Amino acid sequence: MQDNVAISNAMTIKLEDVFAELPEMPPFVEGIRRAPARQFTLSPKDTRLALRNALRYIPPKWHQQLAPEFLEELLTRGRIYGYRFRPLGHIKGRPIDDYRSSCIEGRAFQVMIDNNLDFDVALYPYELVTYGETGQVCQNWMQYHLIKKYLETLNQEQTLVMDSGHPLGLFASSPQAPRVIITNGLMVGCFDDAQNWNRAAALGVSNYGQMTAGGWMYIGPQGIVHGTYSTILNAGRDKLGIPADQDLSGRLFVTSGLGGMSGAQGKSIEIANGVGIIAEVDYSRIETRLEQGWVNRVTEDPAEAFKAAAKCQQQKKSMAIAFYGNVVDLLEYAVNHNIKIDLLSDQTSCHAVYEGGYCPQGISFEERTELLRSGHAGFKEMVDATLRRHYELIKTLADRGTYFFDYGNSFLKAVFDAGVQEICQNGKDPIDGFVFQSYVEDIMGPILFDYGYGPFRWVCLSGTDEDLAKTDRAAMECIDPERRFQDRDNYIWIRDAEKNKLVVGTKARILYQDAMGRMNIALKFNEMVRMGQIGPVMLGRDHHDTGGTDSPFRETANIKDGSNITADMAIHCYAGNAARGMSLVALHNGGGVGIGNAINGGFGLVLDGSERIDGVIRRAIPWDVMGGVARRAWARNQNSIETSIQYNKVRAGTDHITIPYIADDKMVADLVTQAFDDLEK
Ligand SMILES: NC(=O)c1ccc[n+]([C@@H]2O[C@H](COP(=O)([O-])OP(=O)(O)OC[C@H]3O[C@@H](n4cnc5c(N)ncnc54)[C@H](O)[C@@H]3O)[C@@H](O)[C@H]2O)c1
Repeated sequence: MQDNVAISNAMTIKLEDVFAELPEMPPFVEGIRRAPARQFTLSPKDTRLALRNALRYIPPKWHQQLAPEFLEELLTRGRIYGYRFRPLGHIKGRPIDDYRSSCIEGRAFQVMIDNNLDFDVALYPYELVTYGETGQVCQNWMQYHLIKKYLETLNQEQTLVMDSGHPLGLFASSPQAPRVIITNGLMVGCFDDAQNWNRAAALGVSNYGQMTAGGWMYIGPQGIVHGTYSTILNAGRDKLGIPADQDLSGRLFVTSGLGGMSGAQGKSIEIANGVGIIAEVDYSRIETRLEQGWVNRVTEDPAEAFKAAAKCQQQKKSMAIAFYGNVVDLLEYAVNHNIKIDLLSDQTSCHAVYEGGYCPQGISFEERTELLRSGHAGFKEMVDATLRRHYELIKTLADRGTYFFDYGNSFLKAVFDAGVQEICQNGKDPIDGFVFQSYVEDIMGPILFDYGYGPFRWVCLSGTDEDLAKTDRAAMECIDPERRFQDRDNYIWIRDAEKNKLVVGTKARILYQDAMGRMNIALKFNEMVRMGQIGPVMLGRDHHDTGGTDSPFRETANIKDGSNITADMAIHCYAGNAARGMSLVALHNGGGVGIGNAINGGFGLVLDGSERIDGVIRRAIPWDVMGGVARRAWARNQNSIETSIQYNKVRAGTDHITIPYIADDKMVADLVTQAFDDLEK
């Protein structure tokens, strides 16, 4: 067996390069949000394994001192984060020229990693959690330093392999290959569940990347605002009969949650020109959104909330009102006072309904937290009773003309789990869906994803406001607002983006675009970099998109040919992006819906102004989107069929999509009925 001296001598990139001496434990600053302790369930044997695993990063001279420290972290926090190696002070994505590397991509990725851990951006920065409760950039601080060392060394002939937060190493490739390939949380099928993944994470061998956290492409809450704006605006048009060239002016949207993603609701309703009342039980969340200007006023009184809303509706003024209290109390008032609500949703964290995601009626947020801490036996029943009441109120409002949609937070499933079978289409189980639709199934899927419209984004790596303003204007000039109503919405979004003050962290922008729109904007930006008009730009997207994610409860909820339980699309998207030379490709398990429920991927492309990158844009960006549109078309989604027919014309001679023939429903139904009748005879 090789000894540790030989092993150390065999590596030129190692933790000792960063730390000549063992650093002091940095202080934990009051007021920085901390991740809750993750459940510790490892056996003594597995605990030994977890310690040996973490010590793989550590020079042996420090093992005696760090082994008990790591054990303490594991026992008290459920994970080994290596807090001692946390950088002192506030991490921030700095301008690209502040970073060192042998290639531009190596510097660009360091900006992105630091932005994902920015104290103003990240949910739990000390635990490397960017967003979504558990979405980490990597697993621990030893990995963070090693990744940065690798990125400083990386050159155009190499690819860094990132294995669930662990930098496996640099391997020879070519300038045309990705500089970084990332996977997060992937599990072998029979172990692909939360329990096995939790063990793997505690052992230090798996990372939950969420979507953009582990793919280093998170850009702060702005990323969600555009999607939420499009969802509520299009819900209004599709379900309330608002004409396509109009907005939500004079309309009332009632919902709940001002947390991580749900916090985007206030800003979004304001941009869509409507009036919103958002219930929130945690006052600290309301304060954050007030400081940001993402809600305009607060009240604890439902009467006052609805009165203020009615006034703004009459005056056609936009307004976001935070109701400090339980959403069920707010809806009780609306039902009892016969108040007309146009759009209704819910963004409590029902994916973790009994772990604190949903506050029961009749108790405060603080009492809820205390009940959770003391493991109160009746807590589950209180949650279930509130969910059942919530559903009754929604039904009453829906009967009176309100349009309710599930916001991908498992609300409908939670109501079913609370004992309401009638919420299922078939009256017994969720296999055929629920009586209310979810936002992707009904709105985002058919209106946006099926055409290829998705959350394209970019980061101006110079870190200057001027570059962001120039890219905003250039992107706007690439959009024809007359083509479709979606284009007009996107045009208005980018026109007003600066005014809406959406940036938190790096100078980033999100803009929903279709395949050709994304390609044209990318080419324009690369030309601007070439001409020296702006510094380099990092392009990317949320994984929550047309082609990047297979997730039967969300992104692929409107795939109805039975293939919604397969994950071929996301894997092809990832592999195809790597083959076409994106600078970074990422593939993750889970995302917003949990381990085993989705496979999702994304990319990063560094625009350096070169003609080589023009070629990558022309080949990779249309593929990234149209692979998803093609699959949606094959599932017989009408808008995707229309988009694919168009694409086959525009890209004749280069690309070609297989488009389905449509069978006559009646002919098929009659045939099958006859066959089954015959079988019964
Ligand atoms: N916004 C999106 O684009 C999007 C997309 C898909 C899924 N989701 C889902 O939406 C949910 C919310 O996400 P988040 O990041 O905002 O979570 P979060 O936990 O940060 O926020 C939820 C908020 O709801 C509040 N809340 C809980 N029970 C309440 C009650 N009864 N009345 C009033 N307020 C209550 C909580 O205090 C919390 O602040 C998650 O389940 C997420 O997966 C959001």
